[in-house]
Amino acid sequence: MSKIIKVNHAAILKSIIENRRSVFPKNYTGERIDEQIIEDILSSATFAPQHKKTRPWRFKVFRDEEKFQLGQELARIYKATCAEALFLEKKYADITNKISKTDVIITLSVNFSGLVPEWEEIAAVSMAVQNMYLTASVNEVGCYWSSPAMIKHLDQFLGLEENQKCYGLFYMGKI
Ligand SMILES: Cc1cc2nc3c(=O)[nH]c(=O)nc-3n(C[C@H](O)[C@H](O)[C@H](O)COP(=O)(O)O)c2cc1C
Repeated sequence: MSKIIKVNHAAILKSIIENRRSVFPKNYTGERIDEQIIEDILSSATFAPQHKKTRPWRFKVFRDEEKFQLGQELARIYKATCAEALFLEKKYADITNKISKTDVIITLSVNFSGLVPEWEEIAAVSMAVQNMYLTASVNEVGCYWSSPAMIKHLDQFLGLEENQKCYGLFYMGKI
């Protein structure tokens, strides 16, 4: 690789990393993200480092009707698990409102292979999510990692196995 190309790569990468930001559903335009960009975001995740090639990431993509079902499930979990004294009608309504403002949600789960310590699998998935953030960012897709208490109760809805756990929801929308 020539020195000039190397310098350009370094400058471009620096700019992409430094300009990445979390963007929240209230700032999404409501336009649809191209399927190819969603594919690219998911593909970039799989280039993350991983110990012993365990490929610990388990992603599920929710859009359209399935996305609304996920929203209803999150709202149901909030109502079912929140102590009556702490329950807020606004928070309950906000769960589904936020989902309506979002084009695509990817659930972020980890598969624990037993081949490496659990923290290494979580670390590898976190690195995969950083790749997703960066790929979204350069494609003018806003995104953020959300980790509400409700995700502890999503196992059945997501069809997770005993050795898998959901660590977040990756909200995405055009900006
Ligand atoms: C593991 C993880 C969990 C997060 N969970 C939430 C969350 O539940 N709610 C939220 O508003 N932001 C969440 N965030 C996003 C942070 O709020 C955001 O990264 C932080 O404000 C820094 O902003 P930046 O991403 O633009 O640098 C999470 C980020 C990470 C890495």
